[in-house]
Amino acid sequence: MSSELRIGIIGCGEVAVDTCMAIGATDNASIAMLMDTRPEVLRDLAEMYSAPTTTEVDDVLNNPDVDAVYVATPHDLHVPIGVRAARAGKHILMEKPIATNLGDADTLIAACREHDVALGVAFYAQTDANLNYARNLVRAGLLGDIVSVRLTYLGDKPAAYWQGGYSQRVHTDWRTKKDQAGGGVLIMNTIHDLNTMHWVTGLQAKTVYAQVDTLATQVEVEDTVGAVIRFANGAIGSIHAGSALRGGGHGDIRGTRVFGTRGQLILGGQVMAYLAEPPEGGEPNTWQQIQVPGGRGGREAMVAGFVDAVLSGKEPPVTGAAARQALEVVLAAYRSSQEGQPIALPM
Ligand SMILES: NC(=O)c1ccc[n+]([C@@H]2O[C@H](COP(=O)([O-])OP(=O)(O)OC[C@H]3O[C@@H](n4cnc5c(N)ncnc54)[C@H](O)[C@@H]3O)[C@@H](O)[C@H]2O)c1
Repeated sequence: MSSELRIGIIGCGEVAVDTCMAIGATDNASIAMLMDTRPEVLRDLAEMYSAPTTTEVDDVLNNPDVDAVYVATPHDLHVPIGVRAARAGKHILMEKPIATNLGDADTLIAACREHDVALGVAFYAQTDANLNYARNLVRAGLLGDIVSVRLTYLGDKPAAYWQGGYSQRVHTDWRTKKDQAGGGVLIMNTIHDLNTMHWVTGLQAKTVYAQVDTLATQVEVEDTVGAVIRFANGAIGSIHAGSALRGGGHGDIRGTRVFGTRGQLILGGQVMAYLAEPPEGGEPNTWQQIQVPGGRGGREAMVAGFVDAVLSGKEPPVTGAAARQALEVVLAAYRSSQEGQPIALPM
């Protein structure tokens, strides 16, 4: 392959704008084609990135100038489009969630393996320097044994979100529908926190008990969640999530908390550590912010990590298996709430 990864964008809505910007900021990647079924969302991006546009997926998949596709459509289309891309020999950067059910996730992972294309998923933790530092603290044993985790997403989404996201770039109600979105705040937002928690701690969920409901929004998908997770090492965790929690998370330091016998981590926009025995002569038993010099995170690092991996023939930082692991906890929570009983993993 050449020294540049040429990416076709499939789905040019809200988040694709940010991803295009991140690709634009990546030295060894370019936007080779822009595709959306709605021509009106193609115009501004086509002008900014001087790339050809189309309303047909096949035009992207048949284009020899496209090495990889980035798929940012409603959730139910991820796997059907991804499988076609794999068959066309295109590497794939898939938006989260990888799928809305485990069978589909497996189908996509298998198709990518069969057609020898890379599959990466758009989570941030694996390419975030500060979170990787935190991960190394855990691996070095400095947190002791992990006994508990707390995942929170205290969202207060505006009413307009359900008809067009935060930006209103695309007028659409797919986020309200179970069959298109697969669910609400858990599959949309908490899934990021699950991926981060898995990546940093290595914990594996064994049992999930959850109650989910739609209490304050006129949508099909859940807006309120409480869950308890038991992990393979014995740790006990909780998820408290909502998209209609008025006032949001005021006063809370945002981020998943990880509690060990020798310290605690907060995995948020700020990554914080409280350790009995910090590395490099740090002050014991005080809160310290982890800031890796020059370390970048976010969408740019996520895109750069995928691009570098594909160009060097390595596995992308966020594998299909990692994305499936986060999805499985989400789906176990949904099933648990439906059945009114704990669900054992693997499902
Ligand atoms: N990683 C993140 O932090 C993050 C943030 C926001 C959204 N997302 C994910 O990105 C994806 C898209 O979300 P969004 O907020 O941009 O939604 P959006 O509704 O703004 O954009 C989706 C776009 O897909 C297009 N589309 C629909 N059917 C299509 C098809 N068959 N072929 C091509 N395009 C089609 C729509 O016209 C629309 O422009 C979702 O998976 C969402 O969960 C990820």
